[in-house]
Amino acid sequence: MAKTKKTIYFCQNCGFESSKWMGQCPACKEWNTFAEEIVDKRELKGRKEVKDVQTTILKDITSSSEERISTHMEELDRVLGGGIVKGSLVLVGGDPGIGKSTLLLQVCKNLSGEDLNLLYISGEESLQQIKIRADRMGEFSDRLALLCETNLDLIKSVIEREKPDIVVIDSIQTMFNEQVSSAPGSVSQVRESTSILMQIAKGLGITVFVVGHVTKEGVVAGPRVLEHMVDTVLYFEGDRHASYRVLRGVKNRFGSTDEIGVFEMRANGLKEVTNPSEFMLDGRPEGASGSVVACSMEGTRPILIEIQALVSRSAFGMPRRTSVGVDYNRVNLLMAVLEKRLHIPLGDYDAYVNIAGGVRMNEPAIDLGLVLAIYSSFKDIIIEESTICFGEVGLSGEVRSVNMIEQRINEAQKLGFKKVILPRVSMKNLEGKFDIELIGVDNIKDAVDTI
Ligand code: TYD
Ligand code: MG
Repeated sequence: MAKTKKTIYFCQNCGFESSKWMGQCPACKEWNTFAEEIVDKRELKGRKEVKDVQTTILKDITSSSEERISTHMEELDRVLGGGIVKGSLVLVGGDPGIGKSTLLLQVCKNLSGEDLNLLYISGEESLQQIKIRADRMGEFSDRLALLCETNLDLIKSVIEREKPDIVVIDSIQTMFNEQVSSAPGSVSQVRESTSILMQIAKGLGITVFVVGHVTKEGVVAGPRVLEHMVDTVLYFEGDRHASYRVLRGVKNRFGSTDEIGVFEMRANGLKEVTNPSEFMLDGRPEGASGSVVACSMEGTRPILIEIQALVSRSAFGMPRRTSVGVDYNRVNLLMAVLEKRLHIPLGDYDAYVNIAGGVRMNEPAIDLGLVLAIYSSFKDIIIEESTICFGEVGLSGEVRSVNMIEQRINEAQKLGFKKVILPRVSMKNLEGKFDIELIGVDNIKDAVDTI
């Protein structure tokens, strides 16, 4: 096989490729991220002739429903789209110490009780360290094998020999293969390692879980390319100081991506949180202005969250605005709507908006909650504790309809709320279905009059 060696510079942040060194990456605009890597280009041998390549009629393909394996963790199964798909490659990303290794070891524990062989490969921890972690979780069956190794060529041979059903690679940044001369964790190493793992997954029908570290920007370290190659990308996130963790699907070839799973980190591993609303609302202040409960849909599941706002007179000419857990621009926009439509002088006031519990919510349905929280803090009015609200707010102050109304109301009813403030346009066909007070509003004027 003819070999040619070539030097290429890669941006270690986004994977941009360049033939010469550059100070700033033209793709992601980061400075000083280029590193030299040597890439072997092999000539392709045994190329197929065009006469060997055939197209297929879509109608003629018989669909086989893909096999799903349950992880016995409902929260994880849901994010995966109903369980593990045989032969898929799943990337689990997250900050260091968030619990990626713990999660995957726990998956191994659950699955090792079944008729499945598992192989956990760690490039970060020793067998002793893994054992200490496993001891906290309880009994494991003898179906789980461990391997401490970072050489991917060896790992590939071991997998071919042992033929496990599920493999965990902890983490992709520690793996290297000999054909690539750059350091572990570099773009070409990670890319090459992932494609080897892809071959293992697709070729042998083995499900591979891969742990990936994230950079300070929150993407999987180094290569964005990694995300394109794998079937499923999950992010494990949460406040390090709080005990709960959220598992979010960012890409899923076998399911929807807006599902989340909620876990709590306990002394003996991760525990599923099946009622996240209760969890998020824990410790709500009583009789405080600027606090309201809103409902956001995360995938197919409604979650109730507390929105807090603090509006106070600005000491300087430039008012300060801060938002935690919601989009900053969205908060500014809603404040402008409030100022224009209700004629309240928010321009002279500082505003701080926070979603309690450290979660991030992006759904427009929490707009009405943001508006009410800001208004309540500005006027110092207490919103009844047993009230929840949802609805999107438009630029002319109208409250627009949102989807999945019934699920949201059900969740509120389940948690003992008495009153729901919702868009009037969404109130059709709701009569008599719920024994909870429903207050329909057309615009934010109506909404603030109800509190
Ligand atoms: P870990 O899975 O090692 O994180 P990652 O692989 O994402 O870097 O989790 C580390 C943290 O979890 C560590 O700070 C200790 C904590 N932990 C618990 O609180 N309970 C447990 O049962 C385990 C195993 C870990
Ligand atoms: Mg780890």
